[in-house]
Amino acid sequence: MEALKKKILNEGEAIGTQIVKVDGFVNHQIDVRFMSEMGKEFKRRFGDIKVDKILTVESSGIAIACLTAPFFGYPQVVFAKKTSPNTLIEGSYSAEAKSFTKGTVSLVRVSKKFIEKGDRVLIIDDFLAHGEASLAMTDIIKQAGARVTGIGIVIEKLFQGGGEKLRGAGYRVESLVSISKISDGIITFSE
Ligand code: G4P
Repeated sequence: MEALKKKILNEGEAIGTQIVKVDGFVNHQIDVRFMSEMGKEFKRRFGDIKVDKILTVESSGIAIACLTAPFFGYPQVVFAKKTSPNTLIEGSYSAEAKSFTKGTVSLVRVSKKFIEKGDRVLIIDDFLAHGEASLAMTDIIKQAGARVTGIGIVIEKLFQGGGEKLRGAGYRVESLVSISKISDGIITFSE
């Protein structure tokens, strides 16, 4: 998505060799109009699939998932929780996601009420790095007896291997932009 590449180059920031900061329109402030364009682009990429539910992980995935849903006919957006609130004690599916970025392991959970057997689920998330969050979501979808119809990612960092893992496992992954390298403050996209 050329407009997204431009926006990242204009408004994003490269941190070291691993991280791209996009707080100005994804992670801390949301450019709703632009995010809606991203949702439309996901629909263009996944136009041929039927979607019963969209699944993401709190917190940054929620906005992009919600702005993608209208283009798929308003399926419910389910977001996996990373914390264990009092209101979600039992009756949930869970899977571990290791964060290489943060050096932590979190348990992501989804109530059994919100993913049903046979659901065709589209996973949407902001970043694909090592693939831990997406893999945890695929695990939860499998536990529910539902089906992963695709994985839509805003920014994939190719050099962290998550995409390779997910595609290797047979999932259809569509990333709006793919970054092949971050070095000396320069972000290089793959074509
Ligand atoms: P993985 O799920 O692909 O394995 O990624 P990883 O563990 O490395 O990432 C953990 C968290 O860091 C995720 O957010 C992910 O979106 C975010 N992240 C990964 N790479 C980048 C990056 O280059 N830039 C930014 N801004 N974030 C990145 P999270 O912990 O779920 O936090 P939240 O923002 O959704 O609350």
